[in-house]
Amino acid sequence: MTGRFITLEGGEGAGKSTQAKRLAAALHSRGIECIVTREPGGSPGAEEIRKLLVEGEPGRWDAVTETLLLFAARADHIARKIKPTLAAGKWVISDRFTDSTYAYQGAGRGLDRETIRRIEAASTNAFKPELTLVLDLPPETGLARAVARNTNETRFEGFDLAFHTKLREAFREIVQREPDRCVFIDATGTEDKVAELIWRAVAGRFNL
Ligand code: TMP
Repeated sequence: MTGRFITLEGGEGAGKSTQAKRLAAALHSRGIECIVTREPGGSPGAEEIRKLLVEGEPGRWDAVTETLLLFAARADHIARKIKPTLAAGKWVISDRFTDSTYAYQGAGRGLDRETIRRIEAASTNAFKPELTLVLDLPPETGLARAVARNTNETRFEGFDLAFHTKLREAFREIVQREPDRCVFIDATGTEDKVAELIWRAVAGRFNL
């Protein structure tokens, strides 16, 4: 049997990476083999493209170039890591995937949905996760956490608060538009509380 593909989404500093690891640990403890991966990145080629996207000035790329780079990275990630892992029967948890492009490049940077949809169809054949957990947090809180991390991956933190507020709305709309695939997770609680909400959603969806 092939593995399940789960994604975590949300704005900056919502705790996705921590929660991805916790979910993997919870699955492992029930005997389910899984890997954690991330976007942009996740495969050697896509990690190289990641550097182009997350470092440097906010205005470094226009919205369409940025979207093409993201889908180039994603196509490589799907072909070389996600699909082979699922085919081997393991589950894949990805810290971000295509919903981030609709939020950041669509709602945030203003690229129209139809253009993104066409690029998605052409590059990835609209390959989708089975379950997406959307972690919701006020953008002020998330940005403060992200800035405190002090890495050189600051490009998207450089966009203003209005940009990050649009992202939150966009992720909420995605949950409303695709309620069968997406689950809204209130990420304002403690790490344990958020992990519990996520586990409930995953266990419910896959009858664990
Ligand atoms: P991360 O901080 O969650 O590792 O993600 C890296 C940055 O890339 C983050 O600021 C969001 C951005 N991003 C997009 O703008 N579009 C996308 O499709 C993805 C996957 C990430």
